[in-house]
Amino acid sequence: GPFLHVVGARPNFPKAAPVLHALRDRGQDQLLVHTGQHYDDAMSRVFLDELGIPHPDRNLAVGSGTHAVQTAATMVRLEEVFTETRPRTVVVYGDVNSTVAAALVAAKLHIPVAHVEAGLRSFDRTMPEEINRLVTDQLSDVLLATSADAIDHLTHEGVPEERTHLVGNPMIDTLLANLDRADNDAARATHGLTGDYAVATMHRPANVDTPDRAQAVVATLHGIADQVDVVLPLHPRARPTLTAAGVTDHPRVHVIEPRPYLEFIGLVRGARLVVTDSGGIQEETTVLGVPCLTLRPNTERPVTITHGTNRLVTFDDVLDHAQDVLAVPRAQTWPVPPLWDGKAGQRIADVLVGT
Ligand code: UD1
Repeated sequence: GPFLHVVGARPNFPKAAPVLHALRDRGQDQLLVHTGQHYDDAMSRVFLDELGIPHPDRNLAVGSGTHAVQTAATMVRLEEVFTETRPRTVVVYGDVNSTVAAALVAAKLHIPVAHVEAGLRSFDRTMPEEINRLVTDQLSDVLLATSADAIDHLTHEGVPEERTHLVGNPMIDTLLANLDRADNDAARATHGLTGDYAVATMHRPANVDTPDRAQAVVATLHGIADQVDVVLPLHPRARPTLTAAGVTDHPRVHVIEPRPYLEFIGLVRGARLVVTDSGGIQEETTVLGVPCLTLRPNTERPVTITHGTNRLVTFDDVLDHAQDVLAVPRAQTWPVPPLWDGKAGQRIADVLVGT
């Protein structure tokens, strides 16, 4: 049977693109299933188009819901697709609900599961993604890791060494492959930015789901905007609470819709500072050499701190950190974690074809 890739949410697309391309170049049969977890064009279709991801063979249109509703709906529909298509391997990406749903269904049908971005751990089980990572890795047969710490976590959890592979970071393949197309002058002009600016993104439930936290986020963004223009592409999840907390009531906070991939990368590339609670953006800023302040108590991506530009910050110290960063010019050269070299997709394809 074919390799069957399951994607569903925005962060999956830049991880899957290089794997799809590398398997295509190796002449492999593959199917792409989109669960429909993300369904707005701005969260899904524009990414597929820009990244040259083929039109999904199936779209399961599961949509939004509570975790149980969304995961269950995804499982029911994937079971039909897997049963019908009998894939050789199901390839899953990252840590979203679509990922764990696919791993569970495949494992119970005795179909091998390959997990791209295995072994990341925040050790914080209040994060839905941490649960998804733990379960997906336990059920996976091929564990493809972006960094050495991830391999260590898997080893400690008893995953046999022959199942783990340090392959590098496919999301960085996508970043490097598209850098020439990510024009930050155009991105600046679109948003009327003339001088230095920061890019902010906030969407994690712990930061945006309650009015209290939303207030703290807005106070932070306003405090940074007192120092520098802030561009805030707003995830649909965060819009209601941050809007209610008055995020737009500062002349230097520019609230915009979620951006297409190339424009977003262009904006980040040209920024003096990024403030985020995202996972992937911690990695992208590390490779772009843009200082990143992560408003979270922990990170599952510690190499972005040890090898990169990332710092964990709190609501109490974020403004001081921002001031620090803005006080010094951006570094001209910076280190990048091992194997974040643009060839992870090829390594992943080689492992997949060999198993
Ligand atoms: C999901 C991932 C998260 C990832 C994020 C990136 C899980 C558990 N979380 O979170 O790890 O960082 O994607 O975006 O899988 N919505 C829309 N349009 C869409 C999709 C969502 O309006 O196309 C709104 C809906 O109100 C929905 C809410 O966003 O209820 C949350 O969507 P959901 O897919 O449950 O999780 P995210 O917060 O997007």
